[in-house]
Amino acid sequence: MATVLITGAAGFIGAQVVRAFLERGYTVVGVDNLNDYYDPKLKEYRLSELAKYDNFSFYKVDVENIEALRVLFQDKRPEGVVNLAARAGVRYSLENPFVYQSTNALGTLNLLELMREFGIQKFVLASTSSLYAGQPMPFKEDLPVNTPISPYAASKKAAEVMAYTYHYLYGFDVTVVRYFTVYGPAGRPDMVIFRFIKWIDEDKPIIVYGDGTQSRDFTYVDDIAEGTLKAYEAKLGYEIINLGGNNPYRLDEVIGLIESYLGKKAQIEYRPFHKADLKATWADIEKAERLLNWRPTVSLEEGLRRTVEWHIENRDFVRQIEI
Ligand SMILES: NC(=O)c1ccc[n+]([C@@H]2O[C@H](COP(=O)([O-])OP(=O)(O)OC[C@H]3O[C@@H](n4cnc5c(N)ncnc54)[C@H](O)[C@@H]3O)[C@@H](O)[C@H]2O)c1
Repeated sequence: MATVLITGAAGFIGAQVVRAFLERGYTVVGVDNLNDYYDPKLKEYRLSELAKYDNFSFYKVDVENIEALRVLFQDKRPEGVVNLAARAGVRYSLENPFVYQSTNALGTLNLLELMREFGIQKFVLASTSSLYAGQPMPFKEDLPVNTPISPYAASKKAAEVMAYTYHYLYGFDVTVVRYFTVYGPAGRPDMVIFRFIKWIDEDKPIIVYGDGTQSRDFTYVDDIAEGTLKAYEAKLGYEIINLGGNNPYRLDEVIGLIESYLGKKAQIEYRPFHKADLKATWADIEKAERLLNWRPTVSLEEGLRRTVEWHIENRDFVRQIEI
């Protein structure tokens, strides 16, 4: 089967996307710079799980470095590119907006330019529900998303529109997948589900920004990986497609579920709601159903049960993860 270059391969979603492609029979060239925005032990853990596959190879390369990427394109001759490498935290994007622009926007441009140079036509770009700030729910892909409220969202919008330009100029087949709050085993320690499970399990107080009534359309990582694979295999021209759970839950409901699966009560410390956060998200997934024949299959209850199970099985490891 064909070779696919997947960036952000050591990341939470990237590792599961790589696995989905490998299981499907693709040869995968994984790229990641293994930065320390969060504890890199988790990235090493995910890569060690992927090392079991013969058709997987990994390269520590920065997507900001076009020369290093060019060597890889020259050597591996991928048939398509899936770009998940990114700075992905909303709040940190206010502290260091430059790195969001250089990785998320310039990194995407580097990949697009190399695709043009090497005659590669298929591009999948991971984007975000954060772009829908201020829009009516459920969020549909054709809403005008011209007012991003964080440097993170702005950098993703930049990547989306640059990918459109390469579709227009060079006929690339581009599928932008907008993910909605993804969770699952070996997740991101800067996101609530990983933190809440770890802190409640370790009898530490959990920090909630706002009053806990904000809601998210949580989506299980295996569903996201499947949707991303389908987006890669589709030939659609240029499309933006939501991948979301289509069943929003409030944060306080999530805390309740985690408490019940761990058999422990949370101690909650409330902090002011953050201006760059959305109060609620909810994906309209009609387009994903129609164009990709994709629907989420894992309920929040089932997904959280599996995620808590992973934390319990890996408790000693999770204890070492710094937040
Ligand atoms: N997790 C979510 O809920 C969510 C929601 C919407 C969109 N997304 C998008 O999905 C993608 C994956 O997110 P994730 O949650 O797995 O985050 P993650 O931080 O776990 O994964 C991103 C990976 O990219 C790598 N990376 C960062 N900068 C790089 C660079 N300059 N060069 C090479 N590699 C680099 C990181 O080391 C990391 O392993 C991102 O594009 C993110 O914006 C995630």
